Amino acid sequence: MLSRFQRMAYEAMMNRGYLRKFWYPRYQFEYFPRQLCYLASCIERTSSIEGDVVEVGCAHGLTTTFLYEYMKDSGIEKSYNCFDTFSGFTEANISVELNKRMKIYNYEREYKNNNVDWFKESLSRRNITDINVVQADICTIDESKLPSKIAFCLIDVDLYEPVKIGLEKIYPRISAGGIIVVDDCWTKKKHMWVESVGSAYDGAMQAYKEFTSREKLPEKFVETKLAIIEK
Ligand SMILES: C[S@@+](CC[C@H](N)C(=O)[O-])C[C@H]1O[C@@H](n2cnc3c(N)ncnc32)[C@H](O)[C@@H]1O
Repeated sequence: MLSRFQRMAYEAMMNRGYLRKFWYPRYQFEYFPRQLCYLASCIERTSSIEGDVVEVGCAHGLTTTFLYEYMKDSGIEKSYNCFDTFSGFTEANISVELNKRMKIYNYEREYKNNNVDWFKESLSRRNITDINVVQADICTIDESKLPSKIAFCLIDVDLYEPVKIGLEKIYPRISAGGIIVVDDCWTKKKHMWVESVGSAYDGAMQAYKEFTSREKLPEKFVETKLAIIEK
């Protein structure tokens, strides 16, 4: 809690625009509006399909908040489940990129600024208290923690191994009519002014292509970077 003096000093600083690089509100989603709209349309399309909504890789809860509030506001009564390490990529997953996929990139520093309690606290500031938040590595998770039936799942864990294992664990739980969206499967070099993730993050696409080929499923790409599996 700020004292009256601290609050006045803070407001004076903001009113003069000092340090605005750090606090001036800006768009922070990792999805463009059309991509968010597509994800929302999946929630809509699977509203009467048996099972939960799942987000594997939820970072700081921006998309979580968007999709959860969209779902509630649309009168869709489903459980929303979030899975994340809340500490970035695992050593095992990074090792696959560096030693098997021969990538040269510093994955260690990404998504470290997180904590499961901060995540829950941030959601609760928007009165979101009924999301099932599970801190776990999708590759080694106790599978009883995954919902047995899933209507819609967003897999957004970036690297080859967690996307591959995520698909293997989630797909059998998807109900008929359900949908999986895998993020970071870029089909263009650029979307608007954002460059594609490039070779350091091409593992999601490889995992998606291997999985669809093995399961004899059609490939489907929408909105530049979303790969789709419809059951
Ligand atoms: C791109 S961010 C997710 C962004 C989020 N969906 C959003 O739109 O705001 C990737 C997240 O995947 C998580 N992650 C990476 N590897 C994981 C793993 N093996 N198991 C669970 N979560 C993982 C990271 O901690 C990070 O928070």
